[in-house]
Amino acid sequence: MSQDTLTVTHSRTGMTAELPILEGTLGQPTVDINAFNSKFGYFSYDPGFVSTASCKSEITYIDGDAGILLHRGYPIEQLAERGTFLETAYLLINGELPTKHELDAFMHEVGGESMIHEALRHFFSGFHYDAHPMAMMVGVVGSLSAFYHNQIDINRRDDRRISAIRLLAKMPTIAAACYRHSIGMPFVYPRADRSYCENFLNMMFSVPGQNYPVDPIAAKVLNLLFILHADHEQNASTSTVRLASSTGANPYACIAAGIAALWGPAHGGANEAVIKMLTEIGDSSQIPKFIAKAKDKNDPFKLMGFGHRVYKNFDPRATIIRKACYAVLEKLDFNDPLFNLALELEEIALKDEYFIERKLYPNVDFYSGIIYKALGIPVEMFTVMFAIARTAGWTAHWLEMKDEPNQRIARPRQLYVGVPQREYVSIEKR
Ligand code: CMC
Repeated sequence: MSQDTLTVTHSRTGMTAELPILEGTLGQPTVDINAFNSKFGYFSYDPGFVSTASCKSEITYIDGDAGILLHRGYPIEQLAERGTFLETAYLLINGELPTKHELDAFMHEVGGESMIHEALRHFFSGFHYDAHPMAMMVGVVGSLSAFYHNQIDINRRDDRRISAIRLLAKMPTIAAACYRHSIGMPFVYPRADRSYCENFLNMMFSVPGQNYPVDPIAAKVLNLLFILHADHEQNASTSTVRLASSTGANPYACIAAGIAALWGPAHGGANEAVIKMLTEIGDSSQIPKFIAKAKDKNDPFKLMGFGHRVYKNFDPRATIIRKACYAVLEKLDFNDPLFNLALELEEIALKDEYFIERKLYPNVDFYSGIIYKALGIPVEMFTVMFAIARTAGWTAHWLEMKDEPNQRIARPRQLYVGVPQREYVSIEKR
């Protein structure tokens, strides 16, 4: 069967070009416009990459209209209910669910790499106590490259693999160190004999000289949140990792770039912004005022935790988290008025014509902060939590990209709308 093509005709000259239509295993077909410029002498213009598939990938599939999210073919609901975060990370990175033996070996390897160099610990003292933890994350994760320069050759598969493991393993250690630095508490060394989430909670909250029994409910719910945040195909931070990586930059620099992109309130920074917004709303009588602000085109305010570029029906991750909120708050005996406020806000927004018309629904960030808060995680750390989990996806995409044979530097073009060429004017004549 011959390949479908899209015929593009130039309206003035009548010149035509046949553009191949590529079919994936699932989802929308994609028009290959790679030869568009050489054939037509035009660039394509797509601000925000609304219609652009930037790469081929086998890792994650999203159907935004049906609210479907699959990792390597497995529905997020099944992974969230039955799996562990490291199992999901293994799946994302290696393409298949691990056997018991493979998972044990993977956990052992990650546990063994969870320490950070003592010299790296001193980096934190350069930050003021009130530095935002995401600022510390960008700096400290990027600087990891300085410690592994003998195993950072991106052309060597073994170096690439160990770099991915190190990033996954050290991210919770660095994240917890950011928090401990901000409260002036000594850093806690990672424990390889604990699960990924137990180890993180121990590094966050244990007190020197005292036994810290990690609450199994807390570890379980953290595991759930990490699975739900592990990957989301070509989102802004993953695309940033890929873009940085296309230059041949080292993996630690690429992931640091991803952390920086995640920080923005339109992306991972939304979980922090949601709690700040709910706190500002204060009580349900104020909801109409904030809904009106969100609808007002002259007001920059947006309903944080609402809307998504891809999901136009519901975000399956938000559905799972909302359900988990009820169970977790009850089990932890944590009565949070912000949760009730969030539920009311959602109900009112979903009945509002503005949100219905634009297909705006709660996204993954709308309820996640409620759970983080119940776990005692401070608001400034919320986006850091996202970064820990997303490291699984970032590294999986980085590894996938590095395995591509014909990978080229990502170098978009532009539509220049500035001043045309003109003559230099000497300073006396300006
Ligand atoms: N509140 C009010 N109006 C909104 C919102 C919102 N949260 N989100 C989108 N809109 C409006 C937008 O103004 C536009 O209106 P109009 O058609 O009249 O110009 C319309 O809905 C379509 O929105 P868009 O700007 O084209 O959507 P986008 O795909 O460019 O942006 C988004 C997606 C997630 C950045 C945006 O919805 C947003 O800023 N939401 C709030 C921040 C947030 O929750 N971010 C987390 C995203 S999910 C997790 C992650 O990616 O990390």
